[in-house]
Amino acid sequence: MRKIFAVFALFIALGWQLNAQTTSLCHFDAKTKVFRMDGGNVSYVFGVNTRGELQQLYWGGKLGATDDFPQATPMPGWASFDSSYTNTPEEYVGWGAGLYVEPALKVTFADGTRDLVLHYDSYKLTPHGVDVVLKDIKRYVFVILHYEMDPASGILARSANIVNREPQPITVEQAAAAAWSLPAGHYTLNYLTGRWAGEWTLTQETLKPGERVIESRRGSTGHQANPWFAIQAGGPNDEHGDVWFGALAWSGSWRITVEQDQLDAIRVTGGFNPFDFGYVLHPGQQLDTPIFYGGFSAHGMGGASRLLHHFEIAHILPHRVGDGDNAAPKPRPVIYNSWEATGMNVSEANQMALAEKAAALGVDRFVMDDGWFGQRKTDHAGLGDWYVNPQKFPHGLKPLIDKVHSLGMDFGLWVEPEMVNPDSDLYRKHPDWVLNFPGRPRSEERNQLVLNLARPDVRAYVFGVLDKLLTDNDIAFLKWDYNRNWSEPGWDQLPATEQKKVYVAFVQNLYGILAELEKKHPKVEIESCSGGGGRVDLGILKYADEVWPSDNTDPFDRLTQQYGFTYAYTPQVMMAWVTDSPHWLNKRSTSLDYRILSSMEGSLGIGADITKWNDEEMATAKRLIADYHQVQKTIVQGELYRLISPRNGSEFSANEMVNHDKSQAVFFLYIHSTQEGRGFPRLKLLGLDPKAEYALTSIQGEAAPGTPTTASGAWWMNHGIDMGADFRGDFQAAAFRLDKK
Ligand code: GLA
Repeated sequence: MRKIFAVFALFIALGWQLNAQTTSLCHFDAKTKVFRMDGGNVSYVFGVNTRGELQQLYWGGKLGATDDFPQATPMPGWASFDSSYTNTPEEYVGWGAGLYVEPALKVTFADGTRDLVLHYDSYKLTPHGVDVVLKDIKRYVFVILHYEMDPASGILARSANIVNREPQPITVEQAAAAAWSLPAGHYTLNYLTGRWAGEWTLTQETLKPGERVIESRRGSTGHQANPWFAIQAGGPNDEHGDVWFGALAWSGSWRITVEQDQLDAIRVTGGFNPFDFGYVLHPGQQLDTPIFYGGFSAHGMGGASRLLHHFEIAHILPHRVGDGDNAAPKPRPVIYNSWEATGMNVSEANQMALAEKAAALGVDRFVMDDGWFGQRKTDHAGLGDWYVNPQKFPHGLKPLIDKVHSLGMDFGLWVEPEMVNPDSDLYRKHPDWVLNFPGRPRSEERNQLVLNLARPDVRAYVFGVLDKLLTDNDIAFLKWDYNRNWSEPGWDQLPATEQKKVYVAFVQNLYGILAELEKKHPKVEIESCSGGGGRVDLGILKYADEVWPSDNTDPFDRLTQQYGFTYAYTPQVMMAWVTDSPHWLNKRSTSLDYRILSSMEGSLGIGADITKWNDEEMATAKRLIADYHQVQKTIVQGELYRLISPRNGSEFSANEMVNHDKSQAVFFLYIHSTQEGRGFPRLKLLGLDPKAEYALTSIQGEAAPGTPTTASGAWWMNHGIDMGADFRGDFQAAAFRLDKK
C-alpha cells in the first residue's frame, strides 16, 4: 500500500495527472488543457492549443468561478503572409517556423540551425502557481516557465529557465522573461524616460502598429528608460479604466518591446536585452531569466500604482531585523547627507559640525558621502582604494561615528564598489580587472572605469573590502553608487565565444555580493544610487531598502519627477532631500517650507549646508521634521492619489495619501505660479471613509475661513476644501492632515 502511495505521490509531484489539478492559485483542467490563475481581482488564463503550443487566453479582471474556456485554438493565418504561428499569442514563442513578431527565445544550434518551435511538454503545480515545461519539437532544448501569483494583488511573477540537453552547445541570442498579450483595442502606453538629473518623465502615447522599444544597452538599468510599462485601455486617466502593467526585475541591460502586431493585437516582451547578447549553454547548462512582474487594475493608473506599491513593500523590499512580523519594512529614517554641503572635501571637523546641526533638527541618520577614502580629493583619484584617508580622518572613522552615535543618530557611508579610477592603487596593481578589449582604448567617464564584477577575483575583492569596512566600523547604511555606464565590455579571461556572458554574470555577482553582505551584516541597509536614478528596478530593490531617484534636488523639478517615479515605485523607497536655495541646477529660489513639503512626499532627507542655516530656518525644519515623523507611515506606505498633476506646465498640483484603515490622510498642495489672481481650485479628496468624522490639522498653510475643523469623509470627498486667499504666488506649498475622530 505504501509503495502504491509513493508512486501516486510521485505522479502528483511530477504533475502527471489525469484529471483536473488545483491549488488555491492555479487550476489546470486536463480536458481542455487550460491553466487558470486567480489572485486579487485578477484572472490569468492560458492553455495548450490544438497544435501543442502554449497560448494566452485571458488577462484582466477576475472571472466567475465557474467560467470555463474551451481548449485554445491557434489564430488563423492571414493570407500567405502572416502564418497562424505568427498570429497566435503564445506565452513564450521560439524564433522559428515563420515568426515575424518579437520572439521570446532565439537560439543557434551547433550545426547552424536557427529554428526553435516550442511545444507544451508537462506541468507541475507549485505552492504559488505553476511551472510549465516547453520543449522544441525536435531537439532537446527545454524551457521551464515559472508562474507565481500574489494572492493579494493578483500580480503575477513570470520567468523562464532555459535548459540545453543537446549533446552540443547552443547559443542563446535572445531570451525574454515573459511575453504578455492583449487583444486588439485602443490603448495608451505609459513608460518612464529621462537622463541624468532629468529622470522619471512619464511618457504617454497611443499605441500604433509596429514596435516601441524601451531599453538599456548600458550594462545597468539606466536613467534614460526604466523597466516598467503600463498600458491603459482608451486614453490616460488616473482613477478609471483598465490598466495592465509590468516591471522587470533586472539591473543589467534590459529590453521591453511593446508591439501592436499585424492583426492589431498587443504583445509585450521583456527580458535580457538581445543587443550584443550571446549566452553559450554547454550540454546540461541552463540560463535563468530575470522575473517580469505583471498586474492588472480596473482603477486606472492610480489603482495600478497602488497595487505595485503594496506589492513592492510586501514582497520585493528587504525585510530587516527589527521589522518584526510586520508585512511592511519600517519607514525610512530621516537622513542627513553631506554631498551638497561638503562635496568631496570631507573632514572629521566639518562632518562633526554638520552632524551636530542635523541632530538638532531631529534627523535619525547621518550619512557621509563621497571623499572619505583613498586619495580622493576630486573625482580623478581614489575609487577602488577603500581605506580611510589618513589626512582627512587621522584616527579612522571611529571618532566621527562615535560622535554621530552620541548625538542619537546612526551612521551611513557612501561607496562606489564596482568602479575604479586609473589613478588608484587598485588599478596600478590590477589593470586587467576592468571591462576592456585588450589593445583597444578604455573609455573613461567621470575619470573612472568599470571593474569587471563578473570575474571571480573582482567579486571576491569587492565583497572583501565591503565586509571589512562593515566589520571594522559601526555602519548602519551604505549609499551604494554607480556613476557611469559600460563601454568596451570585454571579458578577456574567457574565450571569445563566451565573453558576452558578462551581461548576465556581472549582475548575478552584484546580487550575490549584496545577498552575502545581507547575510553577514543583516542590519546594514542599502541605498541604490547611480548618479541619481540610474539603477532603480525590482531586481536591485530586493536588496536595497531605498533609492536615490535623482541628483536633481530642485524641489519644483522633483514634483514632476516624483510624480513619474511613483507610477512604478513606492514612496517608501523614494529618498528626497531638502537642499539649498537658489538651487545649483536651475538657479531657482524657493522657500524652505516649499522645499521641505516637496521632499516630505517621499522618504525625507536633508542635504543642505545646514551649518549656514539661521535660527528661523532651523526652527522651521525642526517643526516640519517632527510633523513628518508623525504622518510618515501614511505618506510612504499608504494609498497614493494624484489629485492634480504637476505635468504640462500645470499651475497647480496636489497629492493625497491615505493609510490602510482610512484613519489618516495627508495631502499636499503646490502652486507653480499664480496667474490672473486665480486661487487654488477646490480640492476634493479621495479614498476616505465617507461615514467617519475627520479632524483637519494644518501642517503648513491655511484653509479658507469657515472650513470646518471636523467633518465627515463624505464632506471632504464631495464638498472638498478651499484654500485661504493668501495662498497665491510663485512656488507656494501647503500640507494638511485629516485624522479620524
Ligand atoms: C553621484 C551621486 C551623488 C553623490 C556623488 C558623489 O553623483 O548621485 O548623490 O553621491 O555621486 O560623487
